[in-house]
Amino acid sequence: MALFDVENVAFNSRTSQIIKGISLTIEKGSVTALTGKSGCGKSTLLKLIAGILVPSSGRVLFNGNDIQTMNNARNMNFRRRCAFVFQDSALLANQNILQNLNLPLQTHHPELSEKKRIEQIQEVCEIVKYDRSLNLRPTDLSMGEQKKIAFARALINKPEVLFLDECTESLDRKGVAVIMELLQKFISDGNTVIYVSHNSYFITALSGHIYVIEEGLLTE
Ligand SMILES: Nc1ncnc2c1ncn2[C@@H]1O[C@H](COP(=O)(O)OP(=O)(O)OP(=O)(O)O)[C@@H](O)[C@H]1O
Ligand SMILES: [Mg+2]
Repeated sequence: MALFDVENVAFNSRTSQIIKGISLTIEKGSVTALTGKSGCGKSTLLKLIAGILVPSSGRVLFNGNDIQTMNNARNMNFRRRCAFVFQDSALLANQNILQNLNLPLQTHHPELSEKKRIEQIQEVCEIVKYDRSLNLRPTDLSMGEQKKIAFARALINKPEVLFLDECTESLDRKGVAVIMELLQKFISDGNTVIYVSHNSYFITALSGHIYVIEEGLLTE
């Protein structure tokens, strides 16, 4: 059984059909790139597969279960195992970095002591090479630093699947190298990556299946 089955998924806005009926399967341990022109629907498709957007028609199955109709327990399990790095980072502006990283940890691991949580937060910050204060708020950080925190937040619950939307945008070369090394380890551990990127160095290095979205449809 595939990890994800995307079955004839369409997504309409009020005025247009952004995704027109796309099917694909994603195997466990695979790497999948979604590319295409700006505005072609890459972020939309990535969010549909991740269950963040609801398809107008069609469905997405995770291990054979429809994401939109699975029960709460299954949905929590799905959300813990699949993490998302948003194109705009999407950190909570009114919370500091510690609180931003604490929230998913508390949601999925309420049993952890505060000491243990802080240890895990420091650990992911080290992995992404974020070395500034945890008391700062997202607006105190550069876009590149926010991306690092978005990545740290995605890693905090040790996911098996990473959805990455332009995860190297606004990072410098050193930052891109840190993320690349981390992803190569993530993949070699047997995990799954589904990503959108404009960075041809990044696409070449990660490779895997490459799909192009054009006029709401997909070609491999
Ligand atoms: N919720 C929405 N309601 C209406 N229109 C939307 C919605 N979400 C996206 N769109 C439109 O759908 C199209 C695809 O948007 P999307 O963000 O998926 O593109 P993209 O390929 O990720 O672009 P970029 O490369 O610039 O990130 C755009 O024209 C956008 O304006
Ligand atoms: Mg996008």
